[in-house]
Amino acid sequence: MPTDDAQAIDALGWEKRTFPPSAAFKRDALVVDTHLYDDAAEDYHGFWARQSADLLAWSKDWSTICEWELPFAKWFVGGQLNVSYNCLDRHVIAGRGAKVAFHFEGEPGDTRTVTYAQLLDETQRFANVLKGLGVTKGDRVNIYLPMIPEAAIAMLACARIGAAHSVVFGGFSAQSLSDRINDAEAKVLVTADGGWRRGEVFPLKPTADEALISTSTVTGVVVVRRGGNEVAMVEGRDHWYHELMDTAAAECPAEPMDSEQLLFLLYTSGTTGKPKGIMHTSGGYLTHVAFTHKYVFDLHADTDVYWCTADVGWVTGHSYIVYGPLANGATQVMYEGVPNHPGNDRIWEIVEKYGVTIFYTAPTAIRTYMKWGPQEPAKHDLSSLRVLGSVGEPINPEAWMWYQEHIGGGTCPIVDTWWQTETGGIMISPLPGATTTKPGSATFPLPGIGAELVDENGARVDAGGGYLTLTQPWPGMLRGIWGDQERYRETYWSRFPGRYFAGDGAKLDDDGYLWLLGRVDDVMNVSGHRISTTEVESALVSHPSVAEAAVVGATDPTTGQAIIAYVTLRGGLEVDAKVLRDHVAHEIGAIAKPKAIYFTPELPKTRSGKIMRRLLRDVAEGRNLGDTSTLADATVVGELQRRAAEEPSPD
Ligand code: WT7
Repeated sequence: MPTDDAQAIDALGWEKRTFPPSAAFKRDALVVDTHLYDDAAEDYHGFWARQSADLLAWSKDWSTICEWELPFAKWFVGGQLNVSYNCLDRHVIAGRGAKVAFHFEGEPGDTRTVTYAQLLDETQRFANVLKGLGVTKGDRVNIYLPMIPEAAIAMLACARIGAAHSVVFGGFSAQSLSDRINDAEAKVLVTADGGWRRGEVFPLKPTADEALISTSTVTGVVVVRRGGNEVAMVEGRDHWYHELMDTAAAECPAEPMDSEQLLFLLYTSGTTGKPKGIMHTSGGYLTHVAFTHKYVFDLHADTDVYWCTADVGWVTGHSYIVYGPLANGATQVMYEGVPNHPGNDRIWEIVEKYGVTIFYTAPTAIRTYMKWGPQEPAKHDLSSLRVLGSVGEPINPEAWMWYQEHIGGGTCPIVDTWWQTETGGIMISPLPGATTTKPGSATFPLPGIGAELVDENGARVDAGGGYLTLTQPWPGMLRGIWGDQERYRETYWSRFPGRYFAGDGAKLDDDGYLWLLGRVDDVMNVSGHRISTTEVESALVSHPSVAEAAVVGATDPTTGQAIIAYVTLRGGLEVDAKVLRDHVAHEIGAIAKPKAIYFTPELPKTRSGKIMRRLLRDVAEGRNLGDTSTLADATVVGELQRRAAEEPSPD
């Protein structure tokens, strides 16, 4: 809601609890002080160069650390490395071939243990398969798979031969898939017959077939057998993965690639316009994700069992299942299915089964577990856990506290990690052995990262609310938008000159802690006060009966916008709307009191778990719904519309 005065967003509530790292955690932590910050503050180019040399194996040294011609960055210019070599070969060469890379857990309960040696073997064979299908360096390969080890294998095989992958989340439609295939002009599509979800096989190949009708660039399709469902194979175009792998040559040497070789495209939908193919390259990206994966999660690769619950179809899966953890030689859990099959404790059963030590998930998932109740994690021994992570949305302080108490046993540090598809890796986060955390704050920019808040006019804000901007290039940053560098400049670099604008609002407290306030498109304007939806949602979630809340501003004749809240209660609880309205007024002030509260068993979310406030605004304003194709569960909105029409507003 841009206005003339220079205040960007009002900062309303302040969370005061603090959690310093415990002495016990500090004893074995990789970082317990500020040395990395000090080092980076002195010279961030030198800092990243030292990290890269320390964490990765380069075949040829770079000549320039960073070339920066705003908005285009190149990192480790002149250097050469192979990303798959860094993720696989060097661990095997160092004698760690028998180390488990993935403990795979299928939804039906089938399991597979994949060692680094096996992962290297399959990756080499599959790289040869791709070559056999005519894929060469610089080509694009589309990947449309369930959460199975072959997804990582296909990605690494592309990296091995210098082809860029474009992974499309398995929940996307035929239309989304064909749009992405066409934009990338992909030569090969890697898919599966189907995968397991909620106890059933969801077909992928039929959707892929439909997508392929309106594409002309794909000449070969590889189909992994997973679901066992019937599929039609097109002669000459479609091939079974296992058949090609049986006859593929076992060796495919990792050819050194230029540091700036395109590693992947990943499409983000954004709220409007056609999806953007975000470009990431090799040397800088791998440095960034290896560094952040090691230090943000305090990874002890020899002993930790790490589990990131994201899907490989999202950037979190790219950076913190495939590239960061494998570059660091980590042992991981990979799980195919939903968290409530067969029971609401499936996640905790898996944590116990594999002795997971580091667990990385999203606030939307945490709030869902809150809704299901603490008896579910209590069924299992979660004492192996030692670090918890959060990503994807602001984590409400109460969800943070619940996570700490019921999952972390009151002792695990929580790292709330802020980043984006565009940033490639984590940008703002605590370091668990060094940072005193506050529930709901992502704390500080990591070493080597520059972040500042600015007001409407681009002037720096040192306390209170503002727009989050990034002030200097970083190794994992996007290299642009595929096929549209003008849109890249326009979208990210035009609003505040010289700064990358992420699209998020944030506030800074008196101790310099950053608190993310959500997308600025979601900021409401109530009687001239710019109020972030996140703050009102957090106030609602701080009431003991509330599990989850979504807040939107709906046009209002007197106040400009009025605050409308959609609330999901914790299992079995009931509460009066008036009680919640008064609670918000008490927590953050009368100005933020919702005008109306609607109770709902579910909130409309995207397939990646973000609340779709745009749809809720449409519902609140009685409009016809726009595009609902990115909705995870389309029935939710119809139900909300029905309630909005039936229930009078409490005011
Ligand atoms: C947007 C990026 C980052 C990988 C998954 C999402 C929001 C992300 C946090 C956090 C508050 C967060 C931002 C950001 N976001 N992490 N820790 N606290 N907000 O990637 O789909 O590109 O979304 O997610 O709004 O801009 P993405």
